[in-house]
Amino acid sequence: MSHDPFDDDALVNPSREPGIAELIEAQMSRRTALKGLAAIGAISLFGCESLAPRRVATGDMPLTFTEIGRFLDETTHVAPGYDVQVLIRWGDPIRRSGPAFRPGAQWPDDQEQQFGTENDFLAFMPLPRGSKSPTHGLLCVNHENHRAHLVWPGMTAKDSASKMTREHCEIQMAAQGHTIVEIARSGNKWALVDDSPFNRRINARSTQIRVAGPAAGHARMRTSADPAGLRIVGTFNNCAGGVTPWGTVLSAEENFNFYFAGDATKGSEAAARKRYGITGRGRYTWGRYFERFNIAQEPNEPNRFGWVVEIDPYDPKSMPVKRTALGRFKHECATTALSHDGRVAVYSGDDERMEYVYKFVTRERYDPARPEANRDLLDEGTLYVARFEANGTMRWLPLIFGEGPLTAANGFTSQADVAIETRRAADLLGATPMDRPEDVEAHPATGHIYVVLTYNEQRKSEQVNVANPRGPNRYGHIIEIVPPLANGAPDHAATECAWGFFLLGGDPAKPEHGSRYQAPVTANGWVAAPDNVAFDPHGRIWISTDGQDDAAGFADSVYAAETAGPRRGATRCFFSAPRGAEICGPEFTPDGKTLFLAIQHPADESDSTYDKPSTRWPDFKEGVPPRSSVVAVTRSNGGEIGS
Ligand code: FEO
Ligand code: CA
Ligand code: CA
Repeated sequence: MSHDPFDDDALVNPSREPGIAELIEAQMSRRTALKGLAAIGAISLFGCESLAPRRVATGDMPLTFTEIGRFLDETTHVAPGYDVQVLIRWGDPIRRSGPAFRPGAQWPDDQEQQFGTENDFLAFMPLPRGSKSPTHGLLCVNHENHRAHLVWPGMTAKDSASKMTREHCEIQMAAQGHTIVEIARSGNKWALVDDSPFNRRINARSTQIRVAGPAAGHARMRTSADPAGLRIVGTFNNCAGGVTPWGTVLSAEENFNFYFAGDATKGSEAAARKRYGITGRGRYTWGRYFERFNIAQEPNEPNRFGWVVEIDPYDPKSMPVKRTALGRFKHECATTALSHDGRVAVYSGDDERMEYVYKFVTRERYDPARPEANRDLLDEGTLYVARFEANGTMRWLPLIFGEGPLTAANGFTSQADVAIETRRAADLLGATPMDRPEDVEAHPATGHIYVVLTYNEQRKSEQVNVANPRGPNRYGHIIEIVPPLANGAPDHAATECAWGFFLLGGDPAKPEHGSRYQAPVTANGWVAAPDNVAFDPHGRIWISTDGQDDAAGFADSVYAAETAGPRRGATRCFFSAPRGAEICGPEFTPDGKTLFLAIQHPADESDSTYDKPSTRWPDFKEGVPPRSSVVAVTRSNGGEIGS
């Protein structure tokens, strides 16, 4: 996957992998295990038996759209009878009075008032707050990265770092983070409400962010600019996210290790840095001009990133909060699920080869009648890491200071240490190393948890384990975790669940791919490199990809599949991206009539530059570069997507 600058991570997890013998044993023992699983509400595992949802009211409504073909060209493609509207592009002013986009010549202050780069996570938050309006709401968008050679003239992917000025770096800081804009639908068209008081940018350059939870104020969080360790300027590499039951947005800081310069091997934080791949030779050059991004000058600054940030989009004056109880790693996402008893689970993947899947469970219960009581719910609770067992069960192992190996003997002196060094704590507990955990999402009706493993071409055949059975894994897979039922509802606080495979990506016509689908897929319907998923109001899954071009030779796409019934898990292709782009953030309006998609980094291909991009989507004007944009997909007849 050569075009992704974050795919050149060296492996930083030294954990030993379970061997092939364990895998075989797992397959042999599954039938026996099923008897035991009945006790916790599981049904069965992948194959002739399936993990059919226990409440089949949703997920089995047949998809009716006509599947599209494979593409690798300059624009988008969608199933017949659907329309694609570009809603907002990188550089568009978020207010009517804001500065217009100037190709190749932005200013930092302008970028702070414009839509950011490289849109990823999308949340549609209905207006008014608490309503289910499908035509009026806030669009909340993460901005993950910035590729200088596609933004400024005279640069290539290889030489852009040497050409970065201080001003360039400030523009990059202003371009990452998050955007909130009010949008409304009229007829079949969506439009920005460009005089809305809700519209705002959160960025890495100037936004003040509060620190909460166990690491707040800890000595390892203190810097010369913030001697109390309670206030951080900025958030960056905001990848996927989540939405809480109380109407806030969670924004996940992912590849934070690429932002720091200087010698990482000195001082008391050296070992911790190594476990996160913080080498001081990151892709970003901010440390050249800003002391806080130079490890030698501010050794604790990296500890202040890699968190989940909570944002209240309905209160434009609210300060975002880094919720350190959820742990520090390359958070892909932060998906909430309300448990049977009102406690809230937040699921998250650590997106790197051989890293882990996590969940956090709040100590207190969500109380819809008392909004104030929910405000800091994410500061108290238990963080768990996933271990997949050979018998078809999986365990959530608690990361609690003082329990098991998480003691002073192993260098942990408080829960703050466990939060700051979550990866090392998870190593000690024996978590299962996965094939790059991207999105983790809860099915809205069944509560099953879908864990998306995008691919891991570096896993060797002797490193396979029960949950990651291919080495190398070039096409990715999706695991389904089944929480037990309690009082008829999913228990997201449970520490023992069942699990199985929802699908193993790849081309079923090529046995060497080792793919597995639960119902036949066409030559255009098989999946590679799954990344983000969403569920429509009927409980069907929609899967967007990142890296299909490298894995399979065609553009990244969106697939849909029923999650129950005879066509359960049979993906079919709905949408195709412009070349070089990944697709993120699939998000439905509550009526299922609009599907928002984030088209991220179009034209990100070898030898593609600002001066000579491989596509100029979406403007297609000479002199205007390719621009990451959010599109709204609607049905030409105004009906529901997919039905
Ligand atoms: Fe930002 Fe793991 O994708
Ligand atoms: Ca992703
Ligand atoms: Ca990705």
